[in-house]
Amino acid sequence: MSEPKIASRTPYVIDCAPGTYAWCSCGHSKKQPYCDGSHAGTGMVPKIEKLDAARKVAWCGCKKSCNKPFCDGAQSKLPS
Ligand code: FES
Repeated sequence: MSEPKIASRTPYVIDCAPGTYAWCSCGHSKKQPYCDGSHAGTGMVPKIEKLDAARKVAWCGCKKSCNKPFCDGAQSKLPS
């Protein structure tokens, strides 16, 4: 399995409606922060997250969070 690509060095902060979301874990999706199927062949799969209520979500963009799919500030520890 390869390492995920850093899609963004800042989280994707989005007002989300209740529903089921497929967060891109591989970093290759063109529809960040959501999966578009580009993970094919990477050995990685999206993380499915169900939101029961509307809320503002900070989706991890660097793909290094320890609390995936949510941002935990890991981007601040990335080498520049
Ligand atoms: Fe990245 Fe699907 S495109 S997990």
